[in-house]
Amino acid sequence: MVTYQRFSCFRRALSSSVASDVTVPPNSTVFSLIQPTGRIHLGNYLGAIKNWKTLTNSPSSNSRYIFGVADLHALTGLKDAKLLRQYRYEAIASIMAGGLDPEKCILYHQSSVKQHTELAWILMCQASIGGLHRMTQWKSKAQSQAGSSVFDDKVVTNSSAGFFTYPVLQAADILLYKSTHVPVGEDQTQHLELCRNLAGSFNHSFKSDVFPMPQTLVTPTKKVLSLRDPSKKMSKSDADQHSCVYVTDEPDIIAKKIRRAATDSIQGISFDPVNRPGVSNLITVVSGLLNKSIEDTLKAMSSVKDHKQLKDFVTEVIVEEFSEKRRLYDELMKNRDHLEKVCKNGTNRANEIAERNMKEIRRCVGLD
Ligand code: TRP
Repeated sequence: MVTYQRFSCFRRALSSSVASDVTVPPNSTVFSLIQPTGRIHLGNYLGAIKNWKTLTNSPSSNSRYIFGVADLHALTGLKDAKLLRQYRYEAIASIMAGGLDPEKCILYHQSSVKQHTELAWILMCQASIGGLHRMTQWKSKAQSQAGSSVFDDKVVTNSSAGFFTYPVLQAADILLYKSTHVPVGEDQTQHLELCRNLAGSFNHSFKSDVFPMPQTLVTPTKKVLSLRDPSKKMSKSDADQHSCVYVTDEPDIIAKKIRRAATDSIQGISFDPVNRPGVSNLITVVSGLLNKSIEDTLKAMSSVKDHKQLKDFVTEVIVEEFSEKRRLYDELMKNRDHLEKVCKNGTNRANEIAERNMKEIRRCVGLD
């Protein structure tokens, strides 16, 4: 039984919501991947899938849209074949259930297109150790894998080289398709900067203009934070399972998790990420789901006066957004043949572009 209060203003808020105006110029190649980490949560959904859907729903002329699952990147952390096998399909099902139409884009698994790793090696020979050292993400990943409270030589020595070279593979993913636009969360902007550096240095070294400079399209929704501890990002690996809402959660589970979300003891509702991180996180979620600015979200929520009403409102928006997706996800997961067919089709289409570009790249470096 769903025990949260329904708000009539919610209907109005939803019906007046406008698609965010993310469009790209004609002849673009839009590319992005997500890591398969199992079931998709609110953060993954708002950070990637919803944005991909918005982009493909207003396609610009003569542009292509390529999206997929970074299963090679997942190997940096996951050493369990059975789990990875499962996650790869859960990710595809989540992307499709999230509303991405494989008729409107190429959808595939990164590892199925072998040219990713070939280009990664070529770019590895272009990258400098100093350039990779400046990246911040591998440091935190290596540190957390080591379970260390400091980042020191010991952490570096024992760290997987995969964490360190991760952004080179990511650059290869992007450049393989001569991508022009890459929608990602804010945490990936540094990797995109490295990608542009590698593209520039390759073009310079081989006196070519084979690679365009890909632009970062930062996802409109800011990072979604843990419901229980808004000083952290929402994450599936959080020990407290109430910190994270999954697309596949039943309405009463969503209601329960939101009811337990951390707020504050300040009266009323206002957006103030520094002093009111919990409340602001909930407002961010609503703004992301309704495709509205924070200001317009607050206007749409003008009848919401206290924490309890805020939580009911947030619950309703999430339940509304996810109920159909949950049904679709369950259906897709039962139909493995269909998922495989979609991936096969995506792989064929991706492979064709990748091989055409790779021929040109091999010629540039003298491997033809
Ligand atoms: N590193 C990205 C992330 O964790 C995933 C990713 C891999 C990616 N390759 C990519 C994103 C290429 C954009 C383009 O979110």
